[in-house]
Amino acid sequence: MHQPVLIKEILQTLAPHSGGLYLDGCLGAGGYAEAILNASSPDGQLFGFDVDSESIERTEQRLQTFRKRFRFWHAGYHEAASILESTGIGKLDGIVIDLGLSSDQLEDQERGFSFKFQSPLDMRFDRTKGKSAQDLLHDLSEVELEQIISNYGEEPRAAKIARRLKEAIKNGALDSTEQLSEIVAKSVGRKRGRIHPATRVFQALRIAVNDELNNLKRGLEELPRLLKTNSRLCIVSYHSLEDRLVKSTFRDMGRNFHKWHVVTPRPLRPSLEETRSNPRSRSAKMRVIEAL
Ligand SMILES: C[S@@+](CC[C@H](N)C(=O)[O-])C[C@H]1O[C@@H](n2cnc3c(N)ncnc32)[C@H](O)[C@@H]1O
Repeated sequence: MHQPVLIKEILQTLAPHSGGLYLDGCLGAGGYAEAILNASSPDGQLFGFDVDSESIERTEQRLQTFRKRFRFWHAGYHEAASILESTGIGKLDGIVIDLGLSSDQLEDQERGFSFKFQSPLDMRFDRTKGKSAQDLLHDLSEVELEQIISNYGEEPRAAKIARRLKEAIKNGALDSTEQLSEIVAKSVGRKRGRIHPATRVFQALRIAVNDELNNLKRGLEELPRLLKTNSRLCIVSYHSLEDRLVKSTFRDMGRNFHKWHVVTPRPLRPSLEETRSNPRSRSAKMRVIEAL
């Protein structure tokens, strides 16, 4: 089961209270949602979103006891502002967005998020629509693939990797995560002790398949208007492209200091204790902005 990251810090920052209205834009396994519902009992309400219908189904089961105070949508956090406004739900007392993927998704061998398994090249959070990683590898030109690997994976050897991947696709020799990771490793060589060379390529493809950075841009533009005065938006991110976007957006908002206060000029990071007990939390950074 996914272990929620920075959960103590989330609760301290949001300080959920009875009667409050909260949005969890990335429900995942429901760890944050459950903690917020507990902390806001007896009558705080939580509105949850996730693009992964399987996560939604599991989380609905997990949160059965809260069903009178919990509503959820199979939709993106980037769509949440318009959906909540159209349903007439008023302004909110706090918003959390825990980006990326859950351990449940990473460890699901059908999903193709990890190069540790032999899986189909899917990588979609929402398996009900859109193009899989396999489709993208087919449809993109070599130059487009190179740009994705370079921009979203920050991989200096993107040109060589893109060339080898396109060759393999043409020869029908690339349809599993294992083959993808082998081709990348062969293209760039593997240095001992470094992260696996396929890590950046997996990250790049996942970002492209799920349009993650555009969704984050839209979320950052639209979600703040849902906040009540003195309430907060917390974003937890796991790689530098996301963190840079959150940091620069919050910094620009903070210039309007009558309206916004940047609570975290430096991001909050997991404690040593947390990274020891949950190594996947290592890369997490949390940034918070408050509506004035
Ligand atoms: C790190 S997990 C969240 C874990 C959660 N905080 C918990 O405690 O269980 C991220 C979740 O965000 C979902 N997700 C990714 N992009 C999304 C988007 N644009 N809108 C909504 N959910 C999204 C993923 O499907 C995944 O379930």
